[in-house]
Amino acid sequence: MGKLTAAITAVGAYVPNFVLTNKMLEGMVDTNDEWIVTRTGIKERRILKPEEGEGSSYLAIKAAKNLLEKRKIDPEEIDLVMVATATPDSLVASTAAFVASEIGATNAFAYDLLAACSSFLFGMSTAASYIQSGRYKKVLLIGADKMSSIIDYTDRTTCIIFGDGAGAVLFEPNTENLGIQDEYLRADGSGRQFLGMDAGGSLLPASEETVRDRKHFIYQDGKTVFKFAVSNMADVAVRIMERNNLNNEDVSWLVPHQANKRIINATAKRMGLEDSKVMINIHRYGNTTAATLPLLLRDYEDQLKKGDNLIFAAFGGGFTWGSIYLKWAYN
Ligand code: UT7
Repeated sequence: MGKLTAAITAVGAYVPNFVLTNKMLEGMVDTNDEWIVTRTGIKERRILKPEEGEGSSYLAIKAAKNLLEKRKIDPEEIDLVMVATATPDSLVASTAAFVASEIGATNAFAYDLLAACSSFLFGMSTAASYIQSGRYKKVLLIGADKMSSIIDYTDRTTCIIFGDGAGAVLFEPNTENLGIQDEYLRADGSGRQFLGMDAGGSLLPASEETVRDRKHFIYQDGKTVFKFAVSNMADVAVRIMERNNLNNEDVSWLVPHQANKRIINATAKRMGLEDSKVMINIHRYGNTTAATLPLLLRDYEDQLKKGDNLIFAAFGGGFTWGSIYLKWAYN
């Protein structure tokens, strides 16, 4: 028997029905479709409307159920449910615990994982470690974010970027050397001043003042974040290629976090990849934070073949970033 690796064996996803187009945003803030498309690549994003009264768990549950139904998996077989999210239903009580109960994963333990836009990537590493240890056989990793819950729709620098969505993948043991091959994950806490949300945590709890000063919304110094993202995402992806002796022809797909089409293009260029090998759906969903990578896998699942070499790359708040090399496990 070969060594135990952790492979993705199923994918599911969900996005809300409401489509927020660039045209609609033109009526809300001083912006225009041409600026948004040329600077970011985004045309529309999905929003879970506040009137629906649901949190990120709603998106996560839908994505998980989609996966379970597609692959006819009994939820009672799942050992662990992880929800990667920057927008949990509430602080303290784990969103993942609620999701696990709602999908019928009654034998699983569950917890959340927070690393902003890198949460799902880091979650892949965590899920894989549990599988490779031999302790668990089925780990469900969900990336879910209701970004609209922390967006200031009067701030044109952020409201045009983010959308809501969720995606889920199942990790299982593999003995054919498919699944996760290598990872390079990084963090730099000096970045927290450039991308985050000031209030609502232990540092600055909610008060009348924090609400009045609009400190419960996400902010970013876009230019600085862009500079860090564009060099770091490419650096880690190229490093993963080099240390696994992969050239551009060996790489089947780049699976990049969807923050900005220009960052994605720059990463692909440094890797020497042609456009046809780059997964992209930012034009449809915007930046869904923890959901971008599994949403890509759902959208491209039909084109993936067993043995394909996938390079994942992400960059996000913290700062956090990294790259993972995975061999796809099914047709
Ligand atoms: O996923 C987590 C990681 N996040 C990222 O990786 C995001 C990284 N950053 C970015 O993607 C880009 O910096 C943005 C898309 C956020 C902004 O693009 P940019 O090319 O860096 O624009 P900028 O911030 O330098 O702004 C250029 C101009 C400014 O006007 P002036 O000062 O040149 O007159 C802005 O005020 O564009 C203006 N502007 C806008 N104009 C129309 C900023 N936002 C908008 C807008 N519509 N929505």
